[in-house]
Amino acid sequence: MTKFHLRLEDCVRGMARLPDADVDLVVTSPPYNLGIGYRKYSDRQDRRSYLNWCAVWATQIRRLLKPTGSFFLNVGSAPSNPMLPHEIVFQLRDLFVLQNTIHWIKSIAIDDRTFGHFKPISSKRFLNDCHEYIFHFTVDGKIDIDRLALGVPYQDKSNIARWSHTRGRDARCRGNTWFIPYQTIQSREKERPHPATFPVQLAEWCIKLHAISSVKTMLDPFLGIGNSAIAAKNCDVPKFIGFEIDKTYLAEARRRLQLK
Ligand SMILES: C[S@@+](CC[C@H](N)C(=O)[O-])C[C@H]1O[C@@H](n2cnc3c(N)ncnc32)[C@H](O)[C@@H]1O
Repeated sequence: MTKFHLRLEDCVRGMARLPDADVDLVVTSPPYNLGIGYRKYSDRQDRRSYLNWCAVWATQIRRLLKPTGSFFLNVGSAPSNPMLPHEIVFQLRDLFVLQNTIHWIKSIAIDDRTFGHFKPISSKRFLNDCHEYIFHFTVDGKIDIDRLALGVPYQDKSNIARWSHTRGRDARCRGNTWFIPYQTIQSREKERPHPATFPVQLAEWCIKLHAISSVKTMLDPFLGIGNSAIAAKNCDVPKFIGFEIDKTYLAEARRRLQLK
């Protein structure tokens, strides 16, 4: 059973009250400064002050993260602001080591078939944007991960015997392209009442990659409607801490988790 600590509070203020090196895993997605229509937060800040603010909340995450911990940061971009994810990574370079860069693939066309969903862009210059980044930060870049927790079976089974590192197991590393489609919904208002969520599965894969058994305490400073919290519950993470400044989103997270 997961014990939830969900707070209606600015995450910087909330994190400042937590003790040093107490969190094993952070999975989060901050506002991207792309003008998304959140209810309370204004997503159009001056670029420099936005990046400075990223350093402020990331400094708190660095303080809270155990030396053995992992911090998965999901960030997307827009044709109008293609450098943003990289600028955030650059901003955090003195706090963390970038251990893995994962591409969250929302939609892909294989031959003539398309899988997943994306928001089409009407443009003569830009391609439809079908992916976002998940940056895996650690304190020293040397944290062992459970690659085979997300393993996929070998297509060619002769590889199992050919490669000694398989130890006879029919599973290979999935790699850093994760196809995780949004679920098909009929009504955004009723089924996904938030403009910028990630799927529960995305957070579940981060928990599994860090290794479920190593996650005692998990944090999401930008909780939204609680997809990371649902992932924590699905993976039986003992303790989950979340912050959100919007009471409607927080109420929706609590409703989905069946908390009072
Ligand atoms: C990209 S969304 C996160 C969505 C979440 N991953 C989900 O799947 O529901 C970012 C969220 O951060 C919240 N937020 C913005 N500033 C905040 C702050 N200072 N402290 C806590 N939450 C904040 C916004 O209201 C928004 O819901």
